[in-house]
Amino acid sequence: MLRSFALVFLSLFVVSGDESCDRSEMENTICSLCSQRRGSELLEAGHQIAFFAYMTQNVQISSISKHMAFVYDRVETNHGNGYDVQSGNFTAPENGVYVFHTSSTSYDKSYCSVEVVKNGQIKDITFADSGQHDDRAMASSLTILSLTKGDIVHTRVGEARGGSHLESNRYTRMSFSGFKLA
Ligand SMILES: *[C@@H]1O[C@H](CO)[C@@H](O)[C@H](O)[C@H]1NC(C)=O
Repeated sequence: MLRSFALVFLSLFVVSGDESCDRSEMENTICSLCSQRRGSELLEAGHQIAFFAYMTQNVQISSISKHMAFVYDRVETNHGNGYDVQSGNFTAPENGVYVFHTSSTSYDKSYCSVEVVKNGQIKDITFADSGQHDDRAMASSLTILSLTKGDIVHTRVGEARGGSHLESNRYTRMSFSGFKLA
């Protein structure tokens, strides 16, 4: 349908031979129509991969140990079903380049490093560190990874931890999210 529109545009251009017709404007229109079609095809195929999950409560430092996986228990978005709320693992549904984000907050003389791990290998590390002071310290990471279908990415407790708790409540949320670049 859109293709025939494009053909009609093109033939009008050829038939009229109108030199004043702005070629680049016409190309822009065609490109825009094509990308709209591609976008709606992706939507129709339910093909997007994107997830967002967060903790519904604070994480007590006493309840975590080195390399323990963080399990973000509230799943807000999970297109493609890559995120597993039981384990906290994201499993790549297909090959591609993916973007992951984490957000972590330590509270009142607490601290914890958070690792982003692919198939057991550390890829990124952040450190929410309010170890020497009251109030909060926030740490976030943005990590771009090339994944093969079946690769697993998750977050876990890193080398350092101490104090009372990490915060996820009505002031801030500990979250883990990601999506595949189209
Ligand atoms: C979660 O990922 C870890 C690390 O890759 C793996 O050892 C574990 O088996 C996975 N768990 C599930 C339920 O997939």
